[in-house]
Amino acid sequence: MEISFIGAGNLAWHLAPALENAGHHINEVYSRQLQHTRQLVSYLYDARTHSDLNFADSPSQLFILAVPDDAIEAVCARLVLPENSILVHTSGSQSLRALQNWVTVYSDVPVQTGVFYALQTFSKGQSFMDFNEIPLCLEASDKETEDLLVKLGQDVSDIVYLITSAERRTLHLAAVFACNFTNHLLAIAHDLTTDNGLEFDLLQPIIRETIRKGLAASDPADVQTGPARRGDLTTIESHLAQLEQQPRLAEIYQIISENIQQRYIK
Ligand SMILES: NC(=O)c1ccc[n+]([C@@H]2O[C@H](COP(=O)([O-])OP(=O)(O)OC[C@H]3O[C@@H](n4cnc5c(N)ncnc54)[C@H](OP(=O)(O)O)[C@@H]3O)[C@@H](O)[C@H]2O)c1
Repeated sequence: MEISFIGAGNLAWHLAPALENAGHHINEVYSRQLQHTRQLVSYLYDARTHSDLNFADSPSQLFILAVPDDAIEAVCARLVLPENSILVHTSGSQSLRALQNWVTVYSDVPVQTGVFYALQTFSKGQSFMDFNEIPLCLEASDKETEDLLVKLGQDVSDIVYLITSAERRTLHLAAVFACNFTNHLLAIAHDLTTDNGLEFDLLQPIIRETIRKGLAASDPADVQTGPARRGDLTTIESHLAQLEQQPRLAEIYQIISENIQQRYIK
C-alpha cells in the first residue's frame, strides 16, 4: 500500500519502518520541523519530505496521523487529502467519531477514516521495534476500510483486534497505569537512590522479579507485597518521615499505600 505519515515523532519512528519491512511503501513524511522529517526519511527506502499539509497530489492511499492527540483537530483543519483516501489516527484515547467529525467539517472531498492504535510504548531514537508481538487495535468508518486496515495490521503484527473507541480508551487508561506510571515510579526510585549516593542498579533484580511475578500471576494483586500489604504501620510512618522534605512524594506514597490497604481489608 502507498502510505504517507503526518508526524515524525516517537510512534512514526517505529511504525514507518515496520510497514516498509512488511512490503508497504512510505511515500512522504510531514513534520513541523524539517530536521525531524529528514531524520525519519533517512531511515526509509525512498520516502520524501513533505513540507506542508497539502497532499492533494499525493499517490498515497493511506495517511497516518502520528501527531499528539491534542493536535489532531488542528492538523485536520489544514490537511488537504486526495479524494477517497483513508485517514487514520494512532491515538489510544481519541475516538473514531471525533476524527470522522473533523474530516466532515474540514475536508472538501470524501475521505474514509479509521484508527490504527499500537498498544506499546515507543521512543524515537531507540532501535526499531519488532511489531510482530505488538497488539494492534483497529477501528474503521466502513467495512471496506476495516478490511484494508486489518490486512495491513496483519502484515506487521500477529496480534490484531477490532476494538471500539470506548474499549480503546479503557485499554489506554490501563496502559497509563501499567506503563507510564510504573516508569514514573521507577524514576522516583532512581532519584531516591542516586540522590543518596546509592546505585539504582541495586534495585534491578527486585524490579525484574516484580514485573515477572505480576505478569505470571492470574491477578497481580495476588502477589502484592510490602508494608502496606502487610499492615506494617510503623514502617509506613517511618517512610513518610523520611519524605518530610518531599511532600509531593509523601502524598504519592500515602495515596498508593492507602489504596493497597483498602484492597486487602477483610
Ligand atoms: N509514543 C508512544 O509510545 C505512543 C504509543 C501508542 C500511540 N501513540 C500515539 O501516537 C501519536 C503520536 O505520538 P508520539 O509519541 O509519536 O508524538 P511525538 O513524539 O510528540 O511526535 C509528534 C509529531 O507530531 C508533530 N506535531 C506536534 N504538534 C503538532 C501540531 N500542532 N501540528 C502539526 N504537527 C505537530 C511533531 O512535529 P515536530 O517534532 O517536527 O515539531 C512530531 O513530528 C499520538 O496520538 C499518540 O497517542 C504514541
